Amino acid sequence: MPVSTDPNLLVGSSTVDDAAVYKLTDDIALVQTVDYFTPIVDDPYYFGAIAVANGLSDVYAMGARPLTALNIVGFPVGTLPLDTLTTILQGGADKAAEAGVSIVGGHTITDPEPKYGIAVTGIVHPDRVITNAGARPGDILILTKPLGIGIITTGIKRKLVSAEAVDRVIQVMSTLNKAAAEAMVAVGVKAATDVTGFGLLGHLWEILRASHASAKVWAGRVPVLEEAWSLARRGVVPGGTYANLSFLEGAVSWPEGTEEDTKLVLSDAQTSGGLLICVPKDKADELERRLQELHVPTVAKIGEIVGGPDEKITVAL
Ligand code: CO
Ligand code: CO
Ligand code: CO
Repeated sequence: MPVSTDPNLLVGSSTVDDAAVYKLTDDIALVQTVDYFTPIVDDPYYFGAIAVANGLSDVYAMGARPLTALNIVGFPVGTLPLDTLTTILQGGADKAAEAGVSIVGGHTITDPEPKYGIAVTGIVHPDRVITNAGARPGDILILTKPLGIGIITTGIKRKLVSAEAVDRVIQVMSTLNKAAAEAMVAVGVKAATDVTGFGLLGHLWEILRASHASAKVWAGRVPVLEEAWSLARRGVVPGGTYANLSFLEGAVSWPEGTEEDTKLVLSDAQTSGGLLICVPKDKADELERRLQELHVPTVAKIGEIVGGPDEKITVAL
């Protein structure tokens, strides 16, 4: 992608951040992002809700406040009943309303495969943007949703997942990262991202590249959706997860004897995953307390940022 040289562009595409940030005045910067995808669950209402939770997440990950969103829709008109589209959009609208965001328009095209997502506009103070580049040695890594979402949704497509696990993964994916973001903004954090297509290790590595640091991850402390383990052992794993694992081969050192399922879960391509927050050590307890006060259901200290410009991840079991 061509690189912009506009001096008001505070965060562009070069640090692969979650959203672009454009300074309007000394007090306000615009935050913009877009995300859409094909159905991830069979239920159209929850497909809509998850697409919106996922789209808003990129704004929350920047420490920003989403204001408005535009629907992006592809739909096989004439093949699927229009009621299905109405239900998808209702799920999206209800999730946006929960976030206090207005969906103010959108665009639909005829498409053989349904697609839904949003383009989001938010605001942030230009001095308080939370980016991939702000991590410093000593920061503690906190994760706010369990991993294994990609593995379980792949299992759903192959009809290998229990009804309870389907409900659980829908609940996890449709949970907004709003409360988690409010907690990190209140505490004062410089670096965070949300865990999506590149998996925990892939998104962590993006932070390390932008921040010129390395990290340790304590695999045993990473929260994981229970059924993901047995599915991973049976090879029920998204193609993107295998791609993440092989892409990161030179960047991650695994302890001897690490099982393949552990490697796959830590690399799993998520949809609407949690925030990965890099919090200064002296603020970590306060952040944990605030996340719990705001009823963020998963709060796990999973590692730390360490020195060295070599952008390496060391996994400990
Ligand atoms: Co993101
Ligand atoms: Co995104
Ligand atoms: Co970010």
